[in-house]
Order: sequence, then structure tokens, then C-alpha cells
Amino acid sequence: MKKIKIFDTTLRDGEQSPGCSMSIEDKVKIAKILNDMKVDVIEAGFAASNDKDFNAIKLISKICDYSIITSLARCNKNDIDIAYEAIKEAKHKRIHVFIATSEIHMKDKLNKTPEEVKQITHDMVSYAKSKCEDIEFSLEDATRTDPDFACEIIDIAINAGATTINIPDTVGFMTPLEFSNFIKYLRKNSKLDTVDISVHCHNDLGLATANTLSAIISGANQVEVTVNGIGERAGNTSLEEIVAIIDTKKSLGMTTDINTHVIKYVSDEVVKATGSIIQSNKAIVGVNAFKHEAGIHQAGVINNRSTYEILDPTKYGIYTDNIVIGIHSGKNAIINKMQKLNFDINLYDINQILIDIKNWFISENNINNVKEIPEEVFIVIVSSNKINQKIKKKS
Ligand code: KIV
Ligand code: ZN
Repeated sequence: MKKIKIFDTTLRDGEQSPGCSMSIEDKVKIAKILNDMKVDVIEAGFAASNDKDFNAIKLISKICDYSIITSLARCNKNDIDIAYEAIKEAKHKRIHVFIATSEIHMKDKLNKTPEEVKQITHDMVSYAKSKCEDIEFSLEDATRTDPDFACEIIDIAINAGATTINIPDTVGFMTPLEFSNFIKYLRKNSKLDTVDISVHCHNDLGLATANTLSAIISGANQVEVTVNGIGERAGNTSLEEIVAIIDTKKSLGMTTDINTHVIKYVSDEVVKATGSIIQSNKAIVGVNAFKHEAGIHQAGVINNRSTYEILDPTKYGIYTDNIVIGIHSGKNAIINKMQKLNFDINLYDINQILIDIKNWFISENNINNVKEIPEEVFIVIVSSNKINQKIKKKS
């Protein structure tokens, strides 16, 4: 089994996204959960960017005993000094330095020539290495970088002491096949295979998880992810998706150390801390991810969950009722729900209950236009359809 290292950047890239900033207390709480769920690396922030990040990283460094704690740093001595200051008390520590390598970023953002970028890479990775043994180097906008230039930069960073090289798809530009070919090209034409190979994918085209998967199949062994997929613009690869893929598709021959049972809990805590809600159809942690309303699906799932579910929700810490009584539901779901509420189904007119429930959704009693029947309404409808009562009413 190939071990895939999980590098979580919820507290850095995730927190950087609009409206997602977190308090120090929340960052520390989430870091503790990530540490306990056995995330390999926690990017706790960008120490040089503000005092809050610096202080949060310092506190996180003191309390996490399992995960490597890292801070992001630009390729300058000031950022690297502050990053090291923030992580220095961590049991396991890493400095993560980055510089942009695509033509557009070098020219229009950094205002540097490729030669200057090569020199800075050498000097700043060496400088970071003089402070910390574990160094990750990222080629920002790698996927829009000339592949041969990327190979040169990778070799310079490795020769200067980088122990992990990260290949970010910073603007979410690649397709899975392109990313696979890119990783293979870099491996073939540089010293990339002598260090850990990381990927960091953004979701601008909705391909972050697919690209990350493609990269690990093509040789990467570390994935940079966030809880709920939060992150710059359309977000990053989501931790829960990539972990569930590796766990479910045994044929990949891969494994992670993540305790999957904590996934729902950490997802809820990130929602609370950021106020960033999750779309209902989000894989694994969306409220509808394990729910069924259509009668045909309900009939299958009530008999055997595997008819329409490929994952066991409890493995991800999800314990909600998967059968929803909505306007599309059928008799099986009604019976199932009545049994859960301890009604004796033989005493009730199930056909009429189904009709009454469907009518209730389109009646003026459904003042809030809800899509799932409230339990108290369900109980009233069932109770008014007791067979004996009806006979009595008629006579
Ligand atoms: O998206 C990106 O390129 C980044 C790097 C700083 C790793 O977040
Ligand atoms: Zn990013």
C-alpha cells in the first residue's frame, strides 16, 4: 500500500478565502482536531501576514504532538524568520516557502526575470534550510510554468535542501490527464523522485479532486487539501473527498492515516468557525449526501443500503436518518418511518397516509413550503388514519 500524506491547509489557504477568517481560538480548536485525526501536516497559517496568524501558529505548535506544523513564507528572509519563530516550538516543524514560476506571474506580479527567480529559489531555500531540516518548496502557478523551467527550479530547490516539492495548480487550470502528464514529465526530467512530491489543486473548473487523484496515481505522495474544500475562489481539493476516494477504491493500492470517523465533526466545526455553509449536495458532508426521497430509491435502500449508497456514512461520523419523507416518497418509506416511531403498521391505512402526506405538501398548511415533512405533522397524519377510528367515524 502506498501511503498518501495528508497536508491540510484549511487554516491557511482555506482561511484566506473571502469571509472565512477565523478567531485564534477557533484555529487552535480545529488544529487540535486535525492533529487528533492524524493529518500528517497542518499548515497553520502564514505567519508573516498578520499577528493573528503568527500567534495562532505559535499556540498550535505548542499543542500538536502528531502532525508536522508548518507556516507559509514568501521567498524572503523576513518571512522565513517569522515563519520559523512561529513554528519553532512544534514537536515536528516545517517551513513552506514559495515563489511564482509562470511567465505571467514572474513578469506581471513579481517583476522578476527567470534568472532572478532561480537565484532567489537557491538563496531562500538554503536560508530556510539553515533554520529548519524539513523544507517544502512550492512553484506557485506551476501548471502554467514552462515545464523545462519548472524542472530547473525543482532541481535548484532540491539541491538547496528542499525535502518536499509542491506542484500547485494555483488557478485550477489543468484537466486530470494534463496534470498526470505534467507530473510524469517533471519526474522524468528533474530530481523530483528524490523527495516527497506534493500537489495543491484549486477548483476553478470543478476539477480539484479529480486532478489530485490523477496526480497521486502519477507519482505524487502528498495532497494539499482543506476541510469542506474551502479556499481561494472556488476552493481547494476537499480533505473528505480525497480521503474517501482512497479508502473506498481499494484497487488504487493507497492508504492514509486519517481517522475517518472524525470527518463530520471537523466539517461542522469549520462551518461554525468560518460561517461558510456547505452546499447540500456536497460529497460526503453535504446534508443530502446520504439521504433519499424518491420512492424507488427508498424501496431499495430500506432493503439494502448498497443499492444506492457506496459509502458507509457512519465511517465518516454521519448518523442522520437517510430516509426523507418528501413529496416523492413511497409506501416503503412511510412504513419505515412509522416503525421507527413505534407505530403498529397493521393498524393504519398506509395508502391513505401516503395520499394525505402528498396533499399536505401542496396544501396551505405547508406555510413555509418545506420539502421534508416535520415529524409532528407526520405523527398527526398517521394518527388520523387509524383503521378502527375510521370505521367508528363512518358508523
Ligand atoms: O495556490 C497556490 O499556489 C498556493 C501556494 C502558496 C502553495 O496556495
Ligand atoms: Zn492555494
